[in-house]
Amino acid sequence: MKIVVIGGTGLVGSKVVAKLGEHGHEAVAAAPNTGVNTLTGEGLADALTGASVVVDVSNSPSWEDDAVMNFFQTSTRNVLAAEATAGVGHHVALSIVGAERLPDSGYLRAKVAQEKLIEASTIPYSLIHATQFFEFVAGIADGATEGNTVRVAPVGFQPIAADDVATAVARVAVGAPLNGRIDVAGPERYRMDEFFRKVLAERNDPREVVTDEHARYFGAELAEGSLVPAGEATLGKINFAEWGGAAGNYPVSRG
Ligand SMILES: NC(=O)c1ccc[n+]([C@@H]2O[C@H](COP(=O)([O-])OP(=O)(O)OC[C@H]3O[C@@H](n4cnc5c(N)ncnc54)[C@H](OP(=O)(O)O)[C@@H]3O)[C@@H](O)[C@H]2O)c1
Repeated sequence: MKIVVIGGTGLVGSKVVAKLGEHGHEAVAAAPNTGVNTLTGEGLADALTGASVVVDVSNSPSWEDDAVMNFFQTSTRNVLAAEATAGVGHHVALSIVGAERLPDSGYLRAKVAQEKLIEASTIPYSLIHATQFFEFVAGIADGATEGNTVRVAPVGFQPIAADDVATAVARVAVGAPLNGRIDVAGPERYRMDEFFRKVLAERNDPREVVTDEHARYFGAELAEGSLVPAGEATLGKINFAEWGGAAGNYPVSRG
């Protein structure tokens, strides 16, 4: 089966491509540096020729409100139109647990807009909502930093290894379209403020983690259940310590 992975050179995408290849599928990474740009449409029609499934795990280079909205809406429209032309039978996309609960975040509004376009299209689809990647933990701390202080809300937090997310995405991609969504989350649930206080201390990070129930997460205030699955979820196998914990590989820049 030919499966095109949009964003297949990225953190999750490269893992999805590898896993699909290991299972004997023809997995094609589509990204600007492989000649496919979903924003402009460049290379898209050629890449999708003969594909049965398209997996979209791309991400916007800019997280500024208008830029990220434009990225996810324009890219998704372009990809869905190209899929209709190519006769693709399954569109799989990765979104975020709780995105629909946090409209004050421009990034999460854009993810919801992406999902609405997919749900409204004629292409059978599957949506995967994942919690925060372990690899993104350093980026979350940076996003919550003011001077020497990291403000974090005392709410549920259940991060997951990108490898476990990729396993879930690859599994869904080779199955029948859900025409709905599944939630995936890490094997352990923490209190977000306590988690960050411990991780930053273990990393000898000089910043102080302050518990603040009004702390904003990329623009949005959080409630206890904002970032964690509300119901049934597929749980990852790798816990934070096994992944490397505080010393783990954080490919996101600390700014
Ligand atoms: N971070 C989290 O905690 C988290 C949690 C749940 C869900 N997610 C979702 O997971 C997805 C993947 O995240 P990630 O961290 O793996 O992303 P990433 O490492 O930043 O990779 C992004 C990918 O998108 C590609 N891309 C960028 N602009 C493109 C364009 N115009 N056309 C085609 N491809 C383009 C990039 O290609 P180049 O390398 O060539 O630029 C790269 O392959 C995102 O949709 C995100 O919303 C993230």
